[in-house]
Amino acid sequence: MHAPVSPSINPNQEDSHRLKIVIVGHVDHGKSTLIGRLLFDTHSLPDGKIEQIQKACAAEGMDFEYAFLLDALLEEQEQNITIDTTQIQFRTEARSYVIVDAPGHKEFLKNMITGAASADAAIVLLDAREGLQEQTRRHGYLLSLLGVKQVLVAINKMDLVDFSHETFTRLERDYRDFLDPFDIQPLQFVPLSAKHGHNIVRPSEKMPWFQGPSLLAALDQLQQPPAPVDRPLRLIVQDIYRFDERRLIAGRIESGRLKTGDELVFWPEGKRSKIKNIETWPTEPRQTEAQAGQSVALTLEEQIFVERGHIAAHADNGPVEGREFSARVFWLHDQPIRVGQNYTLKLATQQVEARLVRIDRLMDSATLTPLNESRSEIARNEVAELVWQARRPIAFDNSDVIQETGRFVVIQDGRIGGGGVIFGAKYEPAANIIRSTNLSWTDDPVSREARIDHFGHRGAVLWLTGLSGSGKTTLAAALQARLFKRGYAATLLDGDNLRHGLCADLGFSDADRAENIRRAAEAAKLLSEAGLIVIVSLISPFAQGRENAAAIIRKAGISFAEIYVSTPLEVCEQRDPKSLYKKARAGEIKGFTGIDSPYEPPTQPTLEIRTDLLSKEQSLEYLLKLADRMAHRDGISEEELAGFSI
Ligand code: ADX
Repeated sequence: MHAPVSPSINPNQEDSHRLKIVIVGHVDHGKSTLIGRLLFDTHSLPDGKIEQIQKACAAEGMDFEYAFLLDALLEEQEQNITIDTTQIQFRTEARSYVIVDAPGHKEFLKNMITGAASADAAIVLLDAREGLQEQTRRHGYLLSLLGVKQVLVAINKMDLVDFSHETFTRLERDYRDFLDPFDIQPLQFVPLSAKHGHNIVRPSEKMPWFQGPSLLAALDQLQQPPAPVDRPLRLIVQDIYRFDERRLIAGRIESGRLKTGDELVFWPEGKRSKIKNIETWPTEPRQTEAQAGQSVALTLEEQIFVERGHIAAHADNGPVEGREFSARVFWLHDQPIRVGQNYTLKLATQQVEARLVRIDRLMDSATLTPLNESRSEIARNEVAELVWQARRPIAFDNSDVIQETGRFVVIQDGRIGGGGVIFGAKYEPAANIIRSTNLSWTDDPVSREARIDHFGHRGAVLWLTGLSGSGKTTLAAALQARLFKRGYAATLLDGDNLRHGLCADLGFSDADRAENIRRAAEAAKLLSEAGLIVIVSLISPFAQGRENAAAIIRKAGISFAEIYVSTPLEVCEQRDPKSLYKKARAGEIKGFTGIDSPYEPPTQPTLEIRTDLLSKEQSLEYLLKLADRMAHRDGISEEELAGFSI
């Protein structure tokens, strides 16, 4: 799936020195003005920007507003937008800050969930003239849900309440009372006027009664959360690269630390191997340790199956692995989420289909009163404790143990429908390693030689990959029949057929296709170990999936050939035996390979067959020759197979 590229292995220094803050509050409470003011007072604006805006305002006969600064910046960013979270930066003498969300953005709440998820601190903005509003309450609850614990509360527009000490005290008391049940204790309440610059940088002479710090001073007092190096190791696998014959596992260490020689367990599945090297550029001294906050590329001592989505940890301190979990979910989508329906969840780099099993508790996010009614759906802006069941085991943590692996987003109609945090999962260290410690392996009492004697040939796997309609199944079925006729024991694992049984629970998402291929590979392994020639016919569109399949089979000492049925898309589409291309073009089937889902052609297949150029008989002849050679009693070496020519 991936071209050989050199992964970046430098730790992400940037991130560790910037404090990420989210400013939450009603737009009318002055978010834009506050941000404009922060940028201005910290001299974080591009040269000439302020003059430019002052001029523009004068030309329009308008008063200059700090909020315009932000608007102008956002407009500029929008023109070359690459990410959907708007990021605004400023710095004080003490450090740099990045505001991970800004007002005016289209999907504000969605960004609260995805953006605030990585915020180190929050500034909650209140309007001095108003008491607690529904939105403020909801934001407060959301912060608690997302685990943002460092909170500053800015009481804005103090100029409009005559800088009243009494108003400030009342608002502080009310809001503290409100946040208390969520276990959020704001570190500081700051009375200010963003518009007039009171208490932003310096104490204001208008509020002599206030002895606390200005907003910027309060920000500078916040703690840079230490990279959670002392927590259990969680390495989130981003990708696998082939690089100079090495397989590099690239990922980010979210918590803990690792060093060469450590045994890593990759959840889910629990495959384990020791770290051979932490890869560095040849010019750099060899690194033997890495820790939270760093992105690394590792090589392992053994070739185990690792893929994007896996989470690596030390054996004695792993995540929870399971299919069922409870989570608090904040729902944002206008379509309700329903019990009994399937949704796609994204957790770290894992993507999984999961069914909403049950609603345990439901709350109105505005009033935070529990709704005791029994319901089978949750509407926009409601918060609920939900029980989910994933289609396959996934690895996760409780969010208060490790944030990154304890939160997820729910996808509805291709966009984020809501966000959730996992709680209450039980860590059972023994359970994590059950598969490797409490399971045993029964050796096959029939030796491979005895099987070869019995059948007169070896087991082998011929894996046919190609587009739908390329002719895989036709060839595979004919090959099986021909081999059978010649006295070979052969069998066929065909995509469509498998999806009627063994893989009936799988769809066509990337993750499901990967699982489909993994199951087919495991089945092919068992059958070929039993002595059969196994012909697999699957689109298997991703290079990584095919590589994993080859690894599973080769590890069992069985030869594996990749046969690329490379009939061009135009021809497949013209044939369209099941009218699927027509439906895909009409938008009736989504994610159809070759149309709106990719096919990554093999770069070095053992054999390539273009059914539009060869007759069926010719194609079969090639396949028979290959099968014959692979299944020969003496076996075939990997080198010979790689150089196999007809
Ligand atoms: S694979 O991608 O996971 O390898 P597989 O070979 O099992 O796919 O299944 C492909 C068959 O499923 C196709 O031949 C076609 O009949 C059917 N199919 C249904 N929807 C799709 C889709 N979105 N993409 C590809 N094939 C599909």
